[in-house]
Parts: sequence; C-alpha cells; structure tokens
Amino acid sequence: MIRNIKGTKDLLPDDTIKWRFIESKIHKILGSYGYGEIRTPVFESTDLFIRGIGNETDIVSKEMYSWLDQGKKSLTLRPELTAPVVRSYIQNNLQSLGPITKLYYFDSLFRRERPQAGRQRQFHQYGIEAIGSEFPEQDAEVIEIAYNIYKQFNIEKLVVRINSIGSPSIRENYLKILKQSLAKYKSHLSLVSQQRLENNALRIFDSKNKDDKKIVEDNAPFIFDHISDEDLNHFNQLKKILDKINIPYFHDKKLVRGLDYYTRTTFEITSKNLGAQDALCGGGRYDKLVNQLGGKNTPAVGFAAGVERLLMLIKDQTFNKHDNMKIYISILGSQNIPDAMKITSDLRMNTNLNIIIESNRRSLKSQMREANRQKCCYVIMIGENELENKMVIVKNMLNSEQEKIAIKDLNNYFDKISDLNKKIN
Ligand code: HAM
Repeated sequence: MIRNIKGTKDLLPDDTIKWRFIESKIHKILGSYGYGEIRTPVFESTDLFIRGIGNETDIVSKEMYSWLDQGKKSLTLRPELTAPVVRSYIQNNLQSLGPITKLYYFDSLFRRERPQAGRQRQFHQYGIEAIGSEFPEQDAEVIEIAYNIYKQFNIEKLVVRINSIGSPSIRENYLKILKQSLAKYKSHLSLVSQQRLENNALRIFDSKNKDDKKIVEDNAPFIFDHISDEDLNHFNQLKKILDKINIPYFHDKKLVRGLDYYTRTTFEITSKNLGAQDALCGGGRYDKLVNQLGGKNTPAVGFAAGVERLLMLIKDQTFNKHDNMKIYISILGSQNIPDAMKITSDLRMNTNLNIIIESNRRSLKSQMREANRQKCCYVIMIGENELENKMVIVKNMLNSEQEKIAIKDLNNYFDKISDLNKKIN
C-alpha cells in the first residue's frame, strides 16, 4: 500500500471544517487591519532562500527540499514566506502603489525537520509583512495583530517575548566580542557550532546541542547590551506602545531568532498549553532584506504563525456544535423518494440551507443517527401519510420537538429560522 510521506497529513472532512473556520476568521481579522492577501508560487529559485534566510541557518543548511529540474536549475519548495513575499514585492513594483504595503498570507510550507506533535514537514502558516515603515508603531501593530488573533480564538496562557538585536551597523563589533568570549571554549563546541562561530557567529545561539547551549548561556554576551542609542530608542518606544495597548510582554535578551534577515525588533509568542514545540508564532523587523534581494532600501516588519499549532489549542467544543442551517431529509418508504427529492430541490432553490438527503434507504433510526453525526439541527421527515396531506414533519434535533408543516410553507418556515440566526449571530 502506498502511504503519505512522513511529516505530511491528509485533511479529512472533520478536519477541513476546522480549517475553514480558522481560515475564514483569519482572512476577516487581517482584512480588518487593511492587509491584502498575497499568494506566491510553491517553489522558487533556491538562491532566493540562500540569500534571504542565510546559508548557515538550520533551514537552509539542512531542512530545504531542493532539486535540480530538467533544465539544471536549482529549485526549492518554500520553507518560509518572507523571502518570497519580498521577491514578489520587488518584482511587481508594489512600492509604486504607495510608501507602505501591507500583505498577508495563509499557505503551506515545507521543511525537512524531524516530525513530532506540532512539527511537520509540510505545514501551514498565516502571516503578515508590512513593508515600508521604519517606525516602532509598525512593529507594535504587527505584534498586536499576532496577539489579538490568539485572543479572538480564546487561546490562553500566552507568553509574548520581545527583544532587539540592533541595526546591522552594530553587528560587526558585537560579533567580534562574541567570538572573543567563546574563543577559549571553541574546541568544546560541536563541529557545526565551531563552523558557525567562524562564518556566522550569531547562529551559534540556534544550536540544540546540550554542551553548546551551556557554553553559550554561560559565556556569550547579549546582543541587546550592544545595540545603538537609536536602536534602544526604537525598542523603548515599541515597549511604550505595547504597554499602552495592553499587550503583556517580557523582554527576553536571549531571543535572536533563527533567520539571518532580522534587524532590531524580534518577537515570539508561545503558549504554555503546547508541548515541546511551544512557538505559536515568530517575527520581527528585517530592514535590509528588500535591498539585499535587489530592491530599494526599504524597512519592513512581519510575523508568521503555525496553523497546526493554533489548531492544537482550539477546544474541540468550538467545532462540535450542531449547525442550525443544516437540514437532514429523511425519507420513509422508497415510493416517496421522487417527492422527497422534489421538496429538497425546491428548498435548495429557495433557501440558503445546507441540505443532506438520505440516499441509502436506511431505517428511520439510522437516518436519525446520521443526522446527528452530521450535526444537523433539523430533520425533515417525509412519509406516506404526511405526503397525502401535503405535509412533512420537521424535527428539531436539539430539543426533539417536532411539528407538522405544510410543504408550501417550508421555505417560509426556514427563512424565519435563518433570520433569527442572523440576529443571534
Ligand atoms: P519561523 O519562526 O521559522 O518564522 O516560523 C513561524 C512559525 O511557524 C513558528 O512559530 C511555528 O508556529 C510554525 N512552524 C515552523 N516550523 C514548523 C513545522 N515544521 N511544523 C509546524 N509548524 C511550524 C518564519 O517563518 C518567518 N518567515 C516569520 C517572519 C515573517 N518574520 C518576519 N516576517
């Protein structure tokens, strides 16, 4: 038997209901902040990610699905979306539309990581990229959006961590100090970390090796302690806005994030209700990336969030409700099928109900069970006696009450329910 690839998942109807719920809410929220949706291709030139994310990062050095196509061009399934969005921003000259471009996405990505709960090889992210503003209020808006989405899904025990890794001008000096402070421990570091110390010392913080972690924790200086006065001012203004808009956060000087493009602000939101993979989302400022990928010098900030991890935290009751616009047509006696199909067809034409019709000639009991499984709020029972009187029986599955309704009044009956629902929602 051929099975799906490790680290990928099928989404079955019970799952896709949840996905659609999340997706539609996220489209609505991000639209309400004035962000426009962008969809980029699933694969890009490998170069884009090497230049954008950085050669020494975990993603580029070991997690990308890359291959040479028949034309010997190196292609890669996107492992993240910031670099593709920036590529598209430059290529489509979006800056000609205005000084600030606010984009969001909801898409699948690919990283060859070790699969475990909350970590897949094909996974999904929603995220935003605000390109064009250098000001701290833009960082604050991005963090506010990330945070408020979780609030709107009633996710609890959130922890927002923020930091500043300063502007690129302070990097050289800091890296020198970092290398000096770790020099005497170099031979105790893993081979990968030794190599990183030489080529891209900031990536030493990404090591998962226990000994590396201890050496770094005990000896590496914080980059935050070396940022410039302007960087500090930017960070303080950001904190002031977050305080004012009631976003609880804590300053974590250790937070450098594992992608090379960040400058100044970095942030992550975790939840204590998740397991080992507790990062719900992460992001930050990347003021040099547009220029690095061939565009004009343009500041930017954004975040991306794992959809699978959000899904793990949304309580099942949220989805287990009966749907009051969903109707089951129960047919009693095969001779009544044509009439039942006609009634159903008229209802479909004249209402916006979701209607499932029995098509397997089951017993009344089985049909009722099916209606419950499908979370239908109403069952319309169509049988010989009722049809003779041009009536049907409508059963409310929530309170088990049933009443006889004339077929000609059915549209009206459900219209009223639909109006009532609109008012309640
Ligand atoms: P990232 O931290 O690599 O950032 O990913 C963001 C989120 O994607 C993580 O916090 C996690 O929820 C989810 N995620 C990452 N890897 C996996 C996986 N293997 N399985 C399931 N979920 C996963 C970025 O991707 C940056 N592009 C974020 C950004 C946008 N920075 C600025 N703009």
